[in-house]
Amino acid sequence: MTAVSQLVASLLRDVADFPKPGVVFKDITPLLGDGEAFGAVIRELAARHTGAAQPIDAVAGVEARGFIIGAALALELGVGFVPVRKAGKLPGETVQRTYDLEYGTATIEIHADAVTAGQRVLLVDDVLATGGTAIAAWDLLTDCGADVVGFDTIVELAFLGGRDAMGERSVHALHVVTGTADA
Ligand code: PRP
Ligand code: MG
Repeated sequence: MTAVSQLVASLLRDVADFPKPGVVFKDITPLLGDGEAFGAVIRELAARHTGAAQPIDAVAGVEARGFIIGAALALELGVGFVPVRKAGKLPGETVQRTYDLEYGTATIEIHADAVTAGQRVLLVDDVLATGGTAIAAWDLLTDCGADVVGFDTIVELAFLGGRDAMGERSVHALHVVTGTADA
């Protein structure tokens, strides 16, 4: 386990039976509340993209927790931030994607002019679970002409298969939870 993976693990709180019985929720608020650790995590994510031959043009994050990680990372990289919002919140013309949840569906959207053709966009979120959210956000950005260069997350719940579901889309996680036993 890398140092940053250990750091994330040490500040991840397991909350039993949330949001429903039988689910162990991975709560990142202890990590966010530790300024030194939060900074270290953001700098670790940024380091992979700093000085790259083809730099990132923008960071996109998915409402709500992806906003926290994404905005901090955008500032660290010195680029703009694109909010991927849950439906009905953005005032301008939007483009949407609807995806399946365990029960029902969810719709996310971005402003139609939020990205420009060929813009190199890094997508971020706090957790990769089934991959439904990340895939919808990735494809939505692509629909609008962006060149999505990767998906970065703090935590990957490997037992939910999100990485496989992402297919060819590049995934990077700082901390991978491999089994429900340590969930
Ligand atoms: C959570 C999490 C990810 C998503 C991962 O968001 O923050 O965005 O689920 O799950 P998936 O890989 O199965 O799609 P959620 O919308 O539940 O809550 P939030 O608004 O607090 O971010
Ligand atoms: Mg979320």
